[in-house]
Amino acid sequence: MDFDETDLGMQLKDKNLFRQQCFIDGKWTDSLSGETFDVYNPSDLSLVGRMPNCSKIETIKAIDAANKAWDEWKKISGKDRSLIIRNWHQLILDNVDDLALIMTLENGKPISDSKGEIMYASWFTDWFSEEAKRAYGKTIPSTLADRRIITIKQPIGVCGIITPWNFPSAMITRKVAPALAAGCPVVIKPAGTTPFSATALVELANRAGVPKGIINLISVSEKDVGEVGDELCTNKNVRKISFTGSTNVGRALIAKSASTIKKVSMELGGHAPLIVFEDADLDEAVKGAMANKYRNSGQVCVSANRIFVHEKIHDKFAEKLAKKSSELKVSDGRKDGAQIGPLITMAAVEKVQNHVSDAKNKGAKIITGGDIDNAGKQFYKPTVMTNVTNDMKIFYEETFGPVAPLIKFSSDEEVIKMANDTNYGLAGYFFSKDIGRIWRVAEALEYGMIGVNAGVISTEVAPFGGIKESGIGREGAAEGLDEYLEIKYICFDGISN
Ligand code: SIN
Repeated sequence: MDFDETDLGMQLKDKNLFRQQCFIDGKWTDSLSGETFDVYNPSDLSLVGRMPNCSKIETIKAIDAANKAWDEWKKISGKDRSLIIRNWHQLILDNVDDLALIMTLENGKPISDSKGEIMYASWFTDWFSEEAKRAYGKTIPSTLADRRIITIKQPIGVCGIITPWNFPSAMITRKVAPALAAGCPVVIKPAGTTPFSATALVELANRAGVPKGIINLISVSEKDVGEVGDELCTNKNVRKISFTGSTNVGRALIAKSASTIKKVSMELGGHAPLIVFEDADLDEAVKGAMANKYRNSGQVCVSANRIFVHEKIHDKFAEKLAKKSSELKVSDGRKDGAQIGPLITMAAVEKVQNHVSDAKNKGAKIITGGDIDNAGKQFYKPTVMTNVTNDMKIFYEETFGPVAPLIKFSSDEEVIKMANDTNYGLAGYFFSKDIGRIWRVAEALEYGMIGVNAGVISTEVAPFGGIKESGIGREGAAEGLDEYLEIKYICFDGISN
């Protein structure tokens, strides 16, 4: 397709960052059938671009290319891989404006948030360019005098990287940077709704010197994704699947990967509680809740889905949160001052509407929002609800929208029980100034990540991940590198004379 058909290419400083092809074995390529699928801007439903609709055949080609290229890649030193990842990091920083514009057009998020996400994405290239040099093994004292024991860590092999639309760049660098650092090749399958952030990052990785075959990208529409997903999960040359997305899709990928006993990392759904205790700094708690709840219009796995507020401060907190929520600017992400963008699809809007009307019918009170915004049919008003109870869908299901349901509580014991009453276990947050309570609650909450007096806790230096049905494995930090490494134990006998 020509650039002028959608005009995105023309708006970029570097037009070659707008890639509408797959990347296999170091070459930009179309699907074998020539079939494509359209990608739309969720703000105004205009066409952003077209991507090849790939199938099993292209997926096998990409896996084979990756497997072949792995032979050389695994032999080079961690330091040399580190230098390539560092080049990639620098190129990402050099192209923040273009990468952010691409993201805003395909995902809808406000341009300032897109820039923030590109910076977040770059933290992982920065971190893992360093970690590439630190795949340390161990020496282990043997139980026999004439033996010595060590462990070494080696790259696991070809990794299938399946990324979501809500953080279309950061989820790629959070997975691909450690894979490259460990010495693994990758086949990326980005979300069908946001493939252009991914192709732009692959273009930059190619320019950074990642060798041919080490990074591959396959695109497929959401409706045809099954065949590509099945191949990634069942092909014996793929040794690891890393996925960020819903719990139900994660469950299906784990089941499919079982046929070849692959290692899996799964960052799945969340249903985060955010608790405001009676001793909290109220303004800080409102600030934290705002930053947490409305990031990416609430389309975030670690966003609070249930806000528990102590009865003594409930009404004051609700009033402050509603006032601030109603002041947020809802608009096309390209407009100045935009703070809340559209939801990704009409299906996402319908889910939010369904949760809100179910809650309303069962007695919840909408104190601000509760409806589609005038900005367009996929824009939902920031919404605050009180009188939320555990017979409402919103109490148990992830809403993935800008809706803040408030639930009153009266004791620590009661709120911990309610907060843990879910199959999810990704992130939890609470606000309190009492150090004893802080330790007790942090330990009692059944979540992989806890924010204490903090609404946003994502960082490259700490292990991101969930427990229960929110996932397996950790991303970022030293743990993030281990996900792409296998441990080999080597035993030396006959050491004594
Ligand atoms: C996600 O929601 O998928 C990731 C959020 C984050 O990394 O902070």
